[in-house]
Amino acid sequence: MNDKRYGHFDDQHREYVITDPKTPWPWINYLGNEDFFSLISNTAGGYSFYKDAKFRRITRYRYNNVPMDNGGRYFYINDNGNIWNPGWKPCKTPLDFYECRHGMSYTRITGRKNGIEASVLFFVPLNTFAEVQKLTLTNQSNETKKLKLFSFEEWCLWNAATDMENFQRNFSTGEVEIEGSTIYHKTEYRERRNHYAFYHVNAEIQGFDTDRETFVGLYNEFANPDAVVEGKPRNSHAHGWSPIASHYIEVELKAGESKDFIFLLGYVENEQDKKFVAPQVINKEKAHAIIEKLNTTEKVDKAFAELGEYWDALLNIYKVNTGNDKLDRMVNIWNQYQCMVTFNFSRSASFFESGVGRGMGFRDSNQDLVGFVHQIPPRARQRIIDIASTQFPDGGCYHQYQPLTKRGNNDIGGGFNDDPCWLIFGTVAYIKETGDFSILDEMVPFDNQPGSEVTLFEHLKVSMDHVIKNLDPHQLPLIGRADWNDCLNLNCFSWDPNESFQTTENKSEGSKAESLMIAGLFVVTAKQYVELCQKIGKEEEANRMQKAIDAMVTAVKKDGWDGEWYLRAYDFFGNKIGSNECEEAKIFIESQGWCTMAQIGAEDGMVAKSLDSCKKYLECEHGMVLNNPAFSKYIYEYGEISSYPEGYKENAGIFCHNNPWVIIGETLAGRGNDAWNHYAKILPSYVEEKYQTLHKVEPYVNCQMVAGKDAAKPGEGKNSWLTGTAAWMWLTVSQYILGIKPQYDGLQIDPCLPTTAKEYTVQRKFRDAEYNITIKNPEGKEHGVSQIVLDGSVIEGNTIPYSAGKHTVEVVM
Ligand code: GLC
Ligand code: GLC
Repeated sequence: MNDKRYGHFDDQHREYVITDPKTPWPWINYLGNEDFFSLISNTAGGYSFYKDAKFRRITRYRYNNVPMDNGGRYFYINDNGNIWNPGWKPCKTPLDFYECRHGMSYTRITGRKNGIEASVLFFVPLNTFAEVQKLTLTNQSNETKKLKLFSFEEWCLWNAATDMENFQRNFSTGEVEIEGSTIYHKTEYRERRNHYAFYHVNAEIQGFDTDRETFVGLYNEFANPDAVVEGKPRNSHAHGWSPIASHYIEVELKAGESKDFIFLLGYVENEQDKKFVAPQVINKEKAHAIIEKLNTTEKVDKAFAELGEYWDALLNIYKVNTGNDKLDRMVNIWNQYQCMVTFNFSRSASFFESGVGRGMGFRDSNQDLVGFVHQIPPRARQRIIDIASTQFPDGGCYHQYQPLTKRGNNDIGGGFNDDPCWLIFGTVAYIKETGDFSILDEMVPFDNQPGSEVTLFEHLKVSMDHVIKNLDPHQLPLIGRADWNDCLNLNCFSWDPNESFQTTENKSEGSKAESLMIAGLFVVTAKQYVELCQKIGKEEEANRMQKAIDAMVTAVKKDGWDGEWYLRAYDFFGNKIGSNECEEAKIFIESQGWCTMAQIGAEDGMVAKSLDSCKKYLECEHGMVLNNPAFSKYIYEYGEISSYPEGYKENAGIFCHNNPWVIIGETLAGRGNDAWNHYAKILPSYVEEKYQTLHKVEPYVNCQMVAGKDAAKPGEGKNSWLTGTAAWMWLTVSQYILGIKPQYDGLQIDPCLPTTAKEYTVQRKFRDAEYNITIKNPEGKEHGVSQIVLDGSVIEGNTIPYSAGKHTVEVVM
């Protein structure tokens, strides 16, 4: 296969360097770390929002556009009639040089044309509600150049959903104000909104535009706006229609000369009684303050350096050196980076998630947290409380909530019976990382209702009870609307294409639909819960739950085993799903993952058989598929899973998220070679080396799904960035392969390695301690630590007891 390359890793700068703008799909990055966020593609496409991609969309973006990825923050350079952009798009004028460097929360795009270099650094400074665009223009020719520079941003009318549909209203509401070099967007500010946005440049402007049609021309495109082509701004003032912000600057550069322009896209909220300074005139005080903070190159460079230090600190918490660059760069840089992004965005905004459909998922966010908790534990703590606050008194959950309001949201339905378990999963990870048991005493409401507060521990208890109280015929967990697999809709029965599989009536009355995935998930999380109860002296509760675990294990062994693998489920009528008796989809990955992680029936050889079956039936060149054989027709009793073509999504796609479950199962079984082989197949840096064109999406992060072996193009990736895969890959490699596991009382060292791994070091900051760990594996063992020397003395067992300060740890396998 002829697989063209579009870029490469630059580990020293923690960047991915894209050298051809025509990537097989836009390769994007995220800016912003807490409140103000932007998505930016390698050609500067994308958009910005404040906290919530649906309710506070600042700039407009048209998904699924033709051409792809049209619209963004654009700089047009008119060099004597020769018009180009540093990021190639939208003019697509061939450049003499192009490069895009995606780094940790910043992107730098550089273009050169006819002796002019334009380099733009995009980032959101820490604690700032603004995107900085630092444009550096350099004249590399021997003669003086006179350039006409136009900036461009298009405003979104705040609610990204209605912005795309309610045109009878939208076309009349747009309002702007212009003051000096700043363009203010204030649509709806006169009524209930107390926020506005602005676009500023730290230079005198020679003109501007704020009305899209005037600037672009009704029959033109972003590639050839009238104002830019004619080299003449219109100084237009938008009244309704589509407000934009464009600055016009005349730049003279002598040979060798270089000039910086700082553009700022900012967001401001005002108090109700301080909205206006005069009738119709908005209070710009806070905008002025942001501008003042960032109006010189020095100030911007300093803010950028601070961002770099912030990432240094975050990435210094867990650092590995194995000598294998492909592994080290994923562990030390990109996997952790992706975890932060998924923690921030859940599944809301990417180039596959439009930012209007989904908020924060209950199960998704609990999983994302596990990839992020070592970096900023206080944010993970707050997230746990926010999530738990949307739970119902019976332990059931809203499937998602809105980040802006933190309220449960019914758009994607509820009644997914796996949801409650994930709260244990997230909370335990938090306590093990921090040692902060006080979170269990936090008073947390149900469904955000004041007066309903109980302790967080009580939330964990009702979560467990929710599973136990919903067992049926085989004493296995009832699936409810679905379990982790949103598309296994066993109580749905839909023939109506106008219904969503997730939100249509949940016909679970009288249902016998049980899930082996939840059974395994329950055993794993209930064991965590038991350990926690013991830790805090709740022996009776621990015993009660241990009995429930034992019963569940018995039920799985009795009615959840198919001979060579674990069943997937029982349907509404009590028929087996994921059994050799089935015509299609005889085996599913989820129950193999969870029941092997739970080690159900390990003593009877069930775990080993299940793992072998995954290799035999699910594995292919690009990873493990979700089920096999794929469904070839729609099955009314199964729902959405059987609606997808073979090899895609939940129908036998490689759903990367669940590959790590089996990998962890492999490590718990001590099978290091198998674990590593599965892991490397979906590790982006390994894929990057082989398949940039085929893989299609960003080579530096995992995607949710890679087309499976039954698809038209196996190996083609989709839905990059926002996927639980990030956190699971992190958990897998950091804790189960490299084997550094936070426990309540210390760090457990329990690697599971391929026989080729002979030595590596890990630097791990843990609470107030720092451990410098060297692991030697002279005999090429897959599993089993034979000796640990802590600060010169041999210790008992494989857990290093926690104590503050710096420590040296030498481990021999
Ligand atoms: C998506 C959803 C996640 C779900 C998975 C499988 O990744 O975000 O919640 O578990 O699909 O259906
Ligand atoms: C998950 C699945 C997707 C399904 C969606 C429903 O994200 O991956 O296929 O449509 O859930 O919300």
